[in-house]
Amino acid sequence: MTSVQLETPHSGKYEQPTGLFINGEFVKGVDGKTFEVINPSNEKVITSVHEATEKDVDIAVAAARKAFEGPWRKETPEQRGKYLVKLADLFEQNLDLLAAIESLDNGKAISMAKVDVGMCAGCLRYYGGWADKIEGKVIDTTPDTFNYTKKEPIGVCGQIIPWNFPLLMWAWKIGPAIACGNTVVIKTAEQTPLSALVAARLVKEAGFPPGVINVLSGFGKIAGAAIASHMDVDKVAFTGSTVVGRQIMKAAAGSNLKKVTLELGGKSPNIVFEDADIDNAISWVNFGIFFNHGQCCCAGSRVYVQESIYDTFLQRFKERASKNVVGDPFGADTFQGPQVSQVQFDRIMSYIEEGKKSGAKVETGGERKGKEGFFIEPTIFSNVTEDMKIVQEEIFGPVCSIAKFKTKEDAIRIGNSTTYGLAAAVHTSNLNTAIEVSNALKAGTVWVNAYNMLHHQLPFGGFKESGIGRELGEAALDNYTQVKTVSIRLGDALFG
Ligand code: NAI
Ligand code: MG
Repeated sequence: MTSVQLETPHSGKYEQPTGLFINGEFVKGVDGKTFEVINPSNEKVITSVHEATEKDVDIAVAAARKAFEGPWRKETPEQRGKYLVKLADLFEQNLDLLAAIESLDNGKAISMAKVDVGMCAGCLRYYGGWADKIEGKVIDTTPDTFNYTKKEPIGVCGQIIPWNFPLLMWAWKIGPAIACGNTVVIKTAEQTPLSALVAARLVKEAGFPPGVINVLSGFGKIAGAAIASHMDVDKVAFTGSTVVGRQIMKAAAGSNLKKVTLELGGKSPNIVFEDADIDNAISWVNFGIFFNHGQCCCAGSRVYVQESIYDTFLQRFKERASKNVVGDPFGADTFQGPQVSQVQFDRIMSYIEEGKKSGAKVETGGERKGKEGFFIEPTIFSNVTEDMKIVQEEIFGPVCSIAKFKTKEDAIRIGNSTTYGLAAAVHTSNLNTAIEVSNALKAGTVWVNAYNMLHHQLPFGGFKESGIGRELGEAALDNYTQVKTVSIRLGDALFG
């Protein structure tokens, strides 16, 4: 059996594929293994899916290789674009279903899940548009040569994605890889395999040739590691923890030196100057940390407020955070659902305990919410010092620290004082402050008077230990192409 009947409160009954999607078909794993998929709202088993081991990775990579060297190479760029646009249309037609599966499996609020799916469609369509606009150059050197460059696909791309945005990360990875003419083997996170399997069915419906997109459910240490060290995978793209990012690089170095792009963690500063519009700043600071239950690589987890407005800001931020509706992801007003898994829940709670022990003050939250499901109260810590673990390490939950700063120079210094550099924000009504501080922050994205404003046209990725390479925008095409130089000697002059 490679599918089951499931039901969500939002979309009713549906057919959920459970197989591995290899060479255009849903199949069982070679070893016949399955693993359970958990609903984080009630900790119950939703269903089981087939698990990919090394052997299945080999089969999927062989399918991707065959497609890459065969039919996919012969498709026109225009046709690649059409497939992606068709897939985007299918995402939109199935928006309610896909969003409901995200809420069921990941726990994210249905209103937010719908935004995610809409963004997936936007991303896939955008890269569909790029497919026939990937161009080289003619480069004049001497009169007796004709030189040009081509941007060729890299080949078989292994892609390993996390559970915090199961479908959006899928679209961010698939879109540019396919637009550039690669084939892919993508492994979803073991916590959230369901939505990508439905997306795989849409891949088939969109008419992609078999083997171009292969989707595997499985564990990081087994299927993920097999992709990273595979001798016939030409490139690996990874989103997840910094610890695993390092392992991926090592595996690439120790195997075939496959190209590596990494989108890793963050500990992003959200800086509020005294001249900011305070209502706006509070909304965006709240959204910056508590959106997606704090499970965002770019979460604004370190809040810094200029001292003259610190007390007022903190008071109002506390009030705002305690009004966030935490509960059933399918509730129409819900803003925050459960954390994704027991492991993540325990990890976050241990950070909260660590914060309390180290002398930080809980301004609001700090406890589990309810008795069932992995719910955690939105939590704000004050009285923090820069050396505390809760200020330096990524918590990946609804937990932030807040501290004051005096001058612009202080804000820049503490903003840059972690090993990460994914994102940052500045809230101010002074244009010079906005530009000066944005320029000085070592981060891949800086928002001004906003937070988490991601868009498929805008490159996203990390400075420092937050990553290598950029996703989204035109920049992502560089991750999935390699430049070939062709140099033609003209005329008949003899060499030497
Ligand atoms: P993780 O880095 O272990 O998992 C992310 C993906 O990598 C999953 O698909 C997993 O199966 C795979 N993976 C794990 N070990 C692997 C290995 N040895 N080789 C190849 N693939 C492997 O992250 P995890 O354990 O789910 O979360 C731990 C922490 O990582 C979080 O608390 C958070 O701080 C960070 N994280 C950051 C994300 C981001 O968006 N940058 C997303 C998820 C987690
Ligand atoms: Mg789950």
